[in-house]
Amino acid sequence: MMKMALILFATLFFSIAGLVKAAQAENSKILVAYFSWSGNTRGIAQQIQQQTGGDIFEIVPSRAYSTNYNTVLDEALRGQRDQARPPLKNRVENMGQYDVIFIGYPNWWASIPMPVATFLESYDFTGKTVVPFCSHGGGLLGQSVAAIAKLSPNSKILEALSVHYTGGRSLNSDITAWLNKIGLGK
Ligand SMILES: Cc1cc2nc3c(=O)[nH]c(=O)nc-3n(C[C@H](O)[C@H](O)[C@H](O)COP(=O)(O)O)c2cc1C
Repeated sequence: MMKMALILFATLFFSIAGLVKAAQAENSKILVAYFSWSGNTRGIAQQIQQQTGGDIFEIVPSRAYSTNYNTVLDEALRGQRDQARPPLKNRVENMGQYDVIFIGYPNWWASIPMPVATFLESYDFTGKTVVPFCSHGGGLLGQSVAAIAKLSPNSKILEALSVHYTGGRSLNSDITAWLNKIGLGK
């Protein structure tokens, strides 16, 4: 009898806990912020936005990077060596309303592009959930997640997604699987 009551209690407890968790995820307000130089991260950000129903925000530096590949390699390397904080063209109005902030970027020299550092330093992410995603050319996430953690102290950082260039045909299903894994799936 006692055992039955215990099993019943445990079942009820976990069902309610599950429902509360699902309701919390459902009610979270989501922002998908990204920087993209050649468009790959933009495509990934748009897919994440579609699947999560969040708002989308492009991080745009005030002074555009060169459109020439070799030149941008130099510009990016210099920016990273100097730990530059390039000013941004735009700002998220009322960051306070968001609970979950996806942050997307291309892997640049094994870390984040400096406009992403400016973005992260422009807001207080205390108590928020930060979810990195990165497009790369073979270097996966590099040191980028550690850089993000340093720039968004007191936030909870979830497992990042790394995507090879555009992510190809499996992008949508890869995103779905990842969102489910980190508890943000629909
Ligand atoms: C300045 C620069 C630096 C890069 N550094 C790396 C790197 O260190 N490792 C890597 O895997 N890919 C590197 N890449 C390749 C990009 O991460 C890759 O092309 C990515 O898909 C670009 O995303 P985007 O189209 O959103 O800009 C670099 C590209 C650029 C332009």
